[in-house]
Amino acid sequence: MDKFIIEGGQPLRGTLRVAGSKNAVLALMPATLLAPGVYRIRRTPNLRDVWTMSRLLATLGAHVELDNAGDLFLDTRTITTFEAPYEHVKKMRASIYVLGPLLARYGRARVSLPGGCAFGPRPVDLHLKGMERLGAEISIEHGYINARAERLRGAAIHLDIPSVGATVNILYAASLAEGETVLTNAAIEPEVTALAQMLSAMGAHIEGIGTSTLRIEGVPALHPIPTFDNIPDRIETATYLIAAAMTRGSIRVVDANPYHLGTVLDKLEEVGCSLDISGTVIELRSNAPLHASSVTTAPYPGFPTDVQALWTTLMLTADGSSRITDMIYPTRFGYVPELHRLGAEIEVVENTAIVTGNARLQGATVMSSDLRASASLILAGLVAEGQTEVLRVYHLDRGYERMEERLRQLGARIERVQTDEY
Ligand code: EPZ
Repeated sequence: MDKFIIEGGQPLRGTLRVAGSKNAVLALMPATLLAPGVYRIRRTPNLRDVWTMSRLLATLGAHVELDNAGDLFLDTRTITTFEAPYEHVKKMRASIYVLGPLLARYGRARVSLPGGCAFGPRPVDLHLKGMERLGAEISIEHGYINARAERLRGAAIHLDIPSVGATVNILYAASLAEGETVLTNAAIEPEVTALAQMLSAMGAHIEGIGTSTLRIEGVPALHPIPTFDNIPDRIETATYLIAAAMTRGSIRVVDANPYHLGTVLDKLEEVGCSLDISGTVIELRSNAPLHASSVTTAPYPGFPTDVQALWTTLMLTADGSSRITDMIYPTRFGYVPELHRLGAEIEVVENTAIVTGNARLQGATVMSSDLRASASLILAGLVAEGQTEVLRVYHLDRGYERMEERLRQLGARIERVQTDEY
């Protein structure tokens, strides 16, 4: 087990090249199951979740290798089974992304049901409804999804909720189904658009990419593509911008995509940060007092739920009080009791955190609970007086590459230490 030890009080200053998107690459990797071949996905972040997906694909028979330049090589010519065992799925919900490709390629899939997670139940009913609409027979036995489909057939599918994962699985399966699928209320997150673009490069016929109505004309077969470029990670971009804002520092994030940040950039300006955006460079300066501003999370391009904990933590340092409401995951506030240990005054009422600003945080030992919650604890430690220890940073390693090194390069006093504590 590792923990981080942070000495608060250092403003972050410097330049950071943001890594490739975790949530995009987790959708791009299973797409290689749809057409046997050799692929390279560039700008793949070196993260635990990528290793978990790599191991899952290897279990299915693929050969997957990530080099130290961020190039991920996949060879899916020898897929030998269609079963995704619990041991992988329990580690990462996105493992369910192999359901659509296995069904489309083999007509069969046996995928463990993902468990819950740190912020409540995360059902997969919309994924299964989508597969059934495309002609699959689904049964749940012994904690596994059993799916069969002689031939998938295009259908009209409407998502009650614009689920990212359900949109991803339906895109895979509809690409090889017979006839046309019209998917309405589809998720339009940049990660979904990236997948649709990769599938199109593989020969899929998809119209309406980037919109909430996708028309997919199934084709008999797709073909592998030698190279596909992953997109930058928008949540990591937001994380480091907020870290710089909290510490009253200044940061230059390069190779980012400002358009993917939805309302986050507007909100940072609204609270008093000054932003300069040109092309793929985002510069933020935060040397004046920040004022409070409330947010409510929403599907893209609204305020991302994955930035909710980070915004709460930023608002601790702002003038005045604010309300942070999560409409996507109403119970995603597990990090609040940990912030209380640092002296934060936050009250959670239903799916809203009411934050008292101008907090004088004091260092303490705190416990990570999920990926984005751990990031918010690290950021709080950067401004807390004295020393903060953050335990269970393996949660953080799922979605942030070498965060302690990158923060140190920006002037933070932080180190990773092995520990038996957990
Ligand atoms: C993706 O999860 C992301 N993960 C999450 O990021 C992100 O928080 C989430 O989208 C929302 O933006 C990946 O991309 C790998 P959803 P996903 O299906 O696809 C409900 C991170 O920190 N729902 O869009 O699981 C669900 O309960 C992770 O990087 C159903 O009811 O999210 C939620 O309330 C955490 N039935 C809402 O829809 C379903 O079948 C949105 O979930 C599916 C979802």
